[in-house]
Amino acid sequence: MRWSENISLKKYNTFGIDATARHFAGFTSADDLAELLIRAPQPLVVLGGGSNILLTRDIEGTVLINAIGGIDLVDEDDDYCYVKVGAGEDWHGFVEHCISRDWAGVENLSLIPGSVGAAPMQNIGAYGVELKEVFHELEAFDLQDGKVRMFTVNDCRFGYRDSIFKQEYKGRFIILSVIFRLNRVPVYHTEYGAIREELEKSGIRELSIRAISEAVIRIRTAKLPDPKIIGNAGSFFKNPVVPNEQYASLKAKFPEIVGYPGPVQSTTKLAAGWLIEQAGWKGYRRGDAGVHAKQALVLVNYGHATGREIFDLSEEIQGSVQQKFGVSLEREVNII
Ligand code: EPU
Repeated sequence: MRWSENISLKKYNTFGIDATARHFAGFTSADDLAELLIRAPQPLVVLGGGSNILLTRDIEGTVLINAIGGIDLVDEDDDYCYVKVGAGEDWHGFVEHCISRDWAGVENLSLIPGSVGAAPMQNIGAYGVELKEVFHELEAFDLQDGKVRMFTVNDCRFGYRDSIFKQEYKGRFIILSVIFRLNRVPVYHTEYGAIREELEKSGIRELSIRAISEAVIRIRTAKLPDPKIIGNAGSFFKNPVVPNEQYASLKAKFPEIVGYPGPVQSTTKLAAGWLIEQAGWKGYRRGDAGVHAKQALVLVNYGHATGREIFDLSEEIQGSVQQKFGVSLEREVNII
């Protein structure tokens, strides 16, 4: 693919941060990528949909856009369809493709911004479903030796908004494609309160993957800012997981605190949005950096905020939540 120089990255990150890439190119296959890497000046940043990053500086090296496409049914049996998807495909486009073919499993993950290749990086999740439940395997390019490697679900070490690609393999692999294992017969996940309420409100009598997808789309549209209109990267922080004893003492002091059973026994996952709201930040705005008025976990760029301004705001929020509740918030978004 063609190289460009001094390109604005504003339209390549959903936060809409106007950082610059010194060198810039896109790739549509592993061979294409290998060829680009021969002459790509370092440091290297690979972007998919740019939906989970905050750019706090210009990139003096190279930005490569992963544009590998394709959605193909590669195998099937009585229970499952195995679908291989290029990492550069738009996530929601893939979800719609599945719904139109009655492949079930990703309907709760409707309207999540970003690309398919970014989804396993942080094990995207929403409304009671995580990517790992429909994941079969992926192919990734190893920047260390230029080889393509397969990763099974165990290899990926998925956790809450986490995988091996955010831990010891951070920066080492570029995801090329993902194979999903989708259900022929749907298993509906409607236990998440907001979905139940939304389905009741719309008087749905017969459940379907399309009805769930539409409910999720309505919930997300009502609460989360559309990155095409207001720059954002979804939840900026993770929901913190604390030991049950700490939750009990917080609950004694703040009876309204919101907590759910944590990912491991004897832990509670706190709603970070509630903590941030109670610390007084919901709807806060300074310059063009702010905290979304309908969901305090989402930081927003009203137009011309710099990545540094958003980052500084996130530090202040962390400080005040720590001070008020003694809980530390970990960023979910990757800082570049
Ligand atoms: N809440 C508040 N104030 C707020 C926001 C939330 O009090 O400003 C409380 C409410 O009690 C609400 C509860 O927090 O009932 C949970 O809020 P919500 O259902 O909006 O979910 P969340 O925990 O804030 C997580 C994910 C979202 C995902 C939703 C739905 C993380 C970091 N975030 O948010 O994922 O869409 O659940 O499953 O786990 C993302 O990762 O980018 C993302 C948007």
